[in-house]
This record gives sequence, C-alpha cells and structure tokens, in this order.
Amino acid sequence: MIGKNIGIDLGTTSVVIYVEGKGIVLSEPCAAAYEVNTGKLLAVGKRAYDMYEKAPDSIRVVKPMINGIVSDFTATKHILRSFLSKICKTMVFKPNVVACVPSMVTSLEKRTILDLITSAGAAKACLIEEPLAAALGAGLKSDRPKGAMVVDIGGGTTDIAVITMGCISVSSSVKVAGNALDEAIRRQIRRERDVIIGIRTAEMIKRRIGCSYLREVELGLTVKGKHFITGMPVSIEVSSTEAYLAMRPQLEQISEAVRSVLELTPPELAADIMESGIYLTGGGALLNGIDEMIYRKTGIKTFIADDPVNCVALGTGEALAHIDILSQNGYVFKSRDEIGGLEVDETE
Ligand SMILES: Nc1ncnc2c1ncn2[C@@H]1O[C@H](COP(=O)(O)OP(=O)(O)OP(=O)(O)O)[C@@H](O)[C@H]1O
Ligand SMILES: [Mg+2]
Repeated sequence: MIGKNIGIDLGTTSVVIYVEGKGIVLSEPCAAAYEVNTGKLLAVGKRAYDMYEKAPDSIRVVKPMINGIVSDFTATKHILRSFLSKICKTMVFKPNVVACVPSMVTSLEKRTILDLITSAGAAKACLIEEPLAAALGAGLKSDRPKGAMVVDIGGGTTDIAVITMGCISVSSSVKVAGNALDEAIRRQIRRERDVIIGIRTAEMIKRRIGCSYLREVELGLTVKGKHFITGMPVSIEVSSTEAYLAMRPQLEQISEAVRSVLELTPPELAADIMESGIYLTGGGALLNGIDEMIYRKTGIKTFIADDPVNCVALGTGEALAHIDILSQNGYVFKSRDEIGGLEVDETE
C-alpha cells in the first residue's frame, strides 16, 4: 500500500478506524492496560478492556477519554500509536488523518487531539465535528442548502447538530449518553436492592432489556453482583421497568437537549427537518425505543441510521473523499509543525 488516508472516530467507548479504499478496518474499545510498578504498557483495545474491573491490583486499566475529551494524553497516544502502526505497517508514506471531536470542544482541546494524532504517526491531521461526520456517515448529503438534524448518542456525549451546506448551523453537546445510563442503572440497583454490580453488568442490562419508555411486555434478566451489606456474591433478577426508571432522568435530559436545538434552529432549516426527519447515530441509537422517545418529544419523525455505531467513522471516510467541499468551510489538514506540537515526549 502506498499513501492512504485514514479516518478515526476517537470515541469515549471505542476507537473506529476507516482506511480510504478499504472501509472500516478496526473497531476496538478505547482502553490501555499498564503494569502498576513499572508503568509498562501491557495491552491496548479489546485485550485491555477485557481486564477492566477484573485485573489484579498490579495492573491498571485506563479508559483515557472522558466525555469525548482526552483525559489521559499518554494512554490515548499509546492506543492510537499501536492501532496506527498496525494499520500503517504496509504504507510507504505516513497517512493524512481526519478525526472527530465533539461539537463543543475548546480550541485547546482541539489542539491536544491534533497534537496526539500527529505524534502517533499521522503526517497531517484535520478535525471535524462528530455530528457532521455522523451526518455524512448516515448518508445525509450536506453540501446542499437543506437542513438535516443528526443526534449522535455515544458513550460520553450526545451531540446534536443541524447541518446545512457542509457545515454545522446550530449544535449542542451534552455530557449525558451511554455511560451515564449505565451509571444510573448501577446506582439504582445499589439503592433499591442493596446490590453492587459492575459497570459492564449495568451496560449489559441496558443493552439487553433497557428501554426509553415502558415496554408493553416487561422483560427480566438475571445478573450477578455483591450484596452491599453482607459482601457476599448474589444473583438477582432485574426488570426492564427498573432499568427504564433508573435511566429516565438521563433520557429526559437527552430529549430536552434535542428540543433546545430545534428551538434555536432558523425557521427555514426547521421546516427542512420537519420534512426530512431526525437521524440518530452512535451506539446509544440502539437503545430500545429511543427513536420513539424523540418523536414523542419533538413531533418530528425520527430514524435510526443504518449501522449507527460506525456512522461517525464512515463519515470521516466521506470527509476524506470530499475534503475539497470541507476545506471551503475551514476544515484543513495541519502538520505537526503547523500545530506547533510541543507537549509530547517522543520517547514515551
Ligand atoms: N444495543 C445497544 N443498546 C443500548 N446502548 C448500546 C447498544 N449498543 C451500544 N450501546 C451503547 O453505545 C455507547 C457507545 O457508543 P459509541 O461507540 O457511538 O460511543 P463513542 O463514539 O465511543 O463515544 P463518544 O461519541 O461519546 O465519544 C455505549 O454506551 C454502549 O453501551
Ligand atoms: Mg462517538
């Protein structure tokens, strides 16, 4: 392979990588595992995540992205470098990378991510907002003067945006998404049942029986945890109603955020959205009934995009293919020198 360009969805939960001409080549959890005493990197991605909440004290598993933002620079760089070197080993030239950031990040946070990507092996990097990539990945042609609304419900953030002519007209990003729903389920079970469950178990409850409004037929799931008072391992049955009630406040925040963006949308674009509907992307779009919940809140028909989990990465691929359109709106590739990257110790 000679020079290929790459799209990266650097998410709170997972990293998805798209290679021009090949499609999605990698999708792994955003995690790294270290030996505590020596600080040695032991594993990244799925192998690291498999150890999460299960490793002995001698191993520390880090999830370095919090709410879409880099909270552990070194671990994020280790993950990106490891994935990029795997993908680029057959490349003659370093790739140009289009990566995503939540729509409301500061310029310092943007610079940090650009710095990271170029230090992890990219020749040049360009950042685009996550909901813009999600819209491109969902197949919404954004180069025309026609409004489209995308709601990307990820692990750390829900990004809501109205897109027109290749850029964002109105947007909002709230730090309430999949992780907050998992945490809400975990808290509820601890409070109501005196049982402590792991965050992975809470996520499993959400995926298997969770719902955005009460199911007509209640579902149940048996899960294992630890009794809060006796400290003994226990098995309990959790119902879909319990999961729904636990998540209701957070779900309300998500739908309220969608409403607020609609309220701020200029009337002509709002009319377009009435016609074309709202598109849901991100892993959170798979929560049972979330399209119906948003429809009930807004009165606008709501669709779940095809392959919602990979939409953002597919959108970075679309962006690579149409970078000329994006460059008219100020999205440009920058090299490490142009960014002025100084913060990274190359020996790490
Ligand atoms: N079937 C499902 N039902 C409910 N939630 C799901 C389902 N599948 C995945 N999720 C949730 O989707 C979230 C991950 O989505 P995604 O991969 O889009 O996030 P991300 O891009 O890593 O995060 P962010 O965009 O916030 O940085 C997780 O919280 C996961 O639990
Ligand atoms: Mg995402």
